[in-house]
Amino acid sequence: MPVTADSSPAPVFAPCSGPVGPDALTLHTGPDRVVRMGEWQVMSTTARLETARLDHPERGDVGLPAALPPLRIGPLEIASPVVLAPMAGITNRAFRRLCREYGTARSSGATSLYVSEMITSRALVERNELTMRLIEHDLDESPRSTQLYSVDPVTTAAAVRILVSEDRADHIDLNFGCPVPKVTRRGGGGALPWKRELFRSIVAAAVREASPYDVPVTVKMRMGIDPEHQTYLDAGRLARDAGAAAVALHARTVAQAYSGVADWSAIARLKEAVTDIPVLGNGDIWSAEDALAMVAATGCDGVVVGRGCLGRPWLFADLAAAFAGRPERAQPTLGEVVDTLRRHAGYLVDFYDDEVKGCRDIRKHIAWYLKGFPAGSEIRNGLALVDSLAALDDLVGGLDRAAPWPGEPAEGQRGRAGNPRHVVLPEGWLDSRDLTPAQQALVAEAEESVSGG
Ligand SMILES: Cc1cc2nc3c(=O)[nH]c(=O)nc-3n(C[C@H](O)[C@H](O)[C@H](O)COP(=O)(O)O)c2cc1C
Repeated sequence: MPVTADSSPAPVFAPCSGPVGPDALTLHTGPDRVVRMGEWQVMSTTARLETARLDHPERGDVGLPAALPPLRIGPLEIASPVVLAPMAGITNRAFRRLCREYGTARSSGATSLYVSEMITSRALVERNELTMRLIEHDLDESPRSTQLYSVDPVTTAAAVRILVSEDRADHIDLNFGCPVPKVTRRGGGGALPWKRELFRSIVAAAVREASPYDVPVTVKMRMGIDPEHQTYLDAGRLARDAGAAAVALHARTVAQAYSGVADWSAIARLKEAVTDIPVLGNGDIWSAEDALAMVAATGCDGVVVGRGCLGRPWLFADLAAAFAGRPERAQPTLGEVVDTLRRHAGYLVDFYDDEVKGCRDIRKHIAWYLKGFPAGSEIRNGLALVDSLAALDDLVGGLDRAAPWPGEPAEGQRGRAGNPRHVVLPEGWLDSRDLTPAQQALVAEAEESVSGG
């Protein structure tokens, strides 16, 4: 059942206009470059793009992107070409609501696409209680987007049938990027597109069930298993031929997990290979300038933003402004950040219908919200154990609400990073791109205990 949203508007923070003076902070934007914080704040988009180019020369020439037309995903028109990446344990109804509030606050109501965290097809078919909660959307959420993780066409079809015939989704995304060893060990997630026919049949089954209801199906994938076993160009074409309405590429291999730098040139290559449906780029967008830089460098039709918005849902206000060609960027004070954190906690309590569960969930977001701000270890430690809204209010009451946006310490990478890993695969998985009967049986088990891509 859709749930009523709190209609209180998201605050729109003052546009950035920091001082350029001797006390201004410095911003390290590359090995040899230091930009004074005040300068960064007043930089034009062009200058920030230039800075992005100097930071990442491997990403090629970065120029100003042409104004992007609305993103068309099947019958859906997404006015601002921005997608909230599905993130397990994060992009539930509560977090999506928060991001949507910021996304619309700066964009004259322009929509972006906010994808649910991944749910497994099997759990949906079994109508698992938690899964049924995870597929809920707010009453005003439009389009209602749900991501499915699947390993076989039959269960995929049954899960999609539930979503569309019961009018529970307007968009379905299929996850083929999960790098978790317990999933790839059985051939699921990011390992699956290696088996071309299995991949194609899953996408085709989802499209077959969804298209009578005019619900578009999209595919989210990685570049491949490792540099020697890339799948994304093949998979992009197969997905298009099977009727997918768009493909999104997280420009890393499974072996990279979240380490290193996303290879945006792969997004450009996918865009060249798949010309008749939108290609969405994903990986390492930490700011609106990064999003513009990705579009400029790759020609992608839209951007998918994951870790960059952790503890920073107002990034969607920046993205909406950037894609509308406007320069303002949010630079909230600590007081404004705390108000956002508090609102997030309240939404989580509403989502779980349980104050303790909601407060436990907000704990993992706290370090992201406070990144770079002055907050003593006593308050941080207390927040890491918070179990009621009253205790949360009490603790944040001890923070200096007037503390200004700290600049660089609050920017940049956040969330998972980690190291490259050896990808664990079923025996003989890489020997052929077709599935053996033994592998087929193993893949069927790959849907158990998965957690994100
Ligand atoms: C905590 C977390 C959970 C994730 N869960 C999912 C998921 O459920 N489905 C999915 O397709 N990708 C998932 N991802 C991957 C992201 O959608 C995204 O592809 C990845 O983080 C790269 O984008 P970024 O650099 O903008 O973070 C997850 C990532 C993180 C950090």
